[in-house]
Amino acid sequence: MIDIEDIKKRAVIEIDGVVSGDELEVVRLRYLGRKQGEITALLKSLKDMSMEEKKEVGPLIQKLKEDIEEAISFKKKNLSDDPSIIDVTLPGRKTERGHLGIITQTEDEIRRIFNSMNFSVIDGPEMEDEHHNFDALNIPPDHPAREMWDTFWIKTGKEGGKNPSTSSGQERYLLRTHTSPVQVRYMETHKPPFQIISSGKTYRYEATDATHETNFHQVEGLMVGKDISLANFKFVISEFFRQFFSGKTVKVRFRSSYFPFVEPGVEVDVKLDDSRWLEMGGAGMVHPKVLKAVGYDPREWQGFAFGFGVERLTIIKYGIPDIRLFSSGDLKFIKKF
Ligand code: PHE
Repeated sequence: MIDIEDIKKRAVIEIDGVVSGDELEVVRLRYLGRKQGEITALLKSLKDMSMEEKKEVGPLIQKLKEDIEEAISFKKKNLSDDPSIIDVTLPGRKTERGHLGIITQTEDEIRRIFNSMNFSVIDGPEMEDEHHNFDALNIPPDHPAREMWDTFWIKTGKEGGKNPSTSSGQERYLLRTHTSPVQVRYMETHKPPFQIISSGKTYRYEATDATHETNFHQVEGLMVGKDISLANFKFVISEFFRQFFSGKTVKVRFRSSYFPFVEPGVEVDVKLDDSRWLEMGGAGMVHPKVLKAVGYDPREWQGFAFGFGVERLTIIKYGIPDIRLFSSGDLKFIKKF
């Protein structure tokens, strides 16, 4: 009689003592190898047995074979989990790598295109004072135009600097509602001519839906020089869209609109191939009052400015259905880009 239990005990002890994949393979061959395996030999010997013997021993040997196979695969898994044992025959483990989010990728792309047209990229603070976000942009306190930007005001606890235009005479702080204050900051410290863009986070205190978020991104552009006109803007912005939506035919149109810091003000629409007209953002010629406030002579210098939503550009480029996906943390969405 074959002692099945004995073979099993022996095999289990041997498998257990193995410390590498190579050693485990040697043990596997000793028991289950097609030519010299002990179990394989047993299975082969079945054909010389009588019918009754076969019926009795066959299933036992089969079970033994399965038990040993299981012990081996269990050991194999343990070996690969143990960092002190490196089995070079195992397939490599896939390491997860992070990547830049789709908004950052889009911002990089926008910067690259404007850079190629000689625009410099500049930055501004996300926490702004009332002066730069509103007053200097020709939006005085209590002016109804302030309602265009629902504002998150910041409680500082401490009193800010002086701002005679506010009701309290003190500077108030807020989360910038648009990137336009960056224009003012740049003009206060630089002399024209220049052309700049600035991209970053903006905040609005409003209800969210598929096309509105309280936290989104804008890209602001500003070009100031002599004899600058809307025609120059049309060229620059058409060239930008042509590169940004490369592969599509792009048409650009202006609709007259109102922003306190530009005159005239326009809404910029884009038509891609045979799509309907899509609204991209606001623009216009910098208002003489804004130029004067930073010490420029409006008879000498003119400029155009524009502000577009980065999410909107991204949504249109990639066909994204809902603006809330960007900050949802949904890995399925994030990994698509
Ligand atoms: N800042 C405006 C907004 O947030 C957009 C804009 C920028 C309009 C520059 C005209 C010129 O809506």
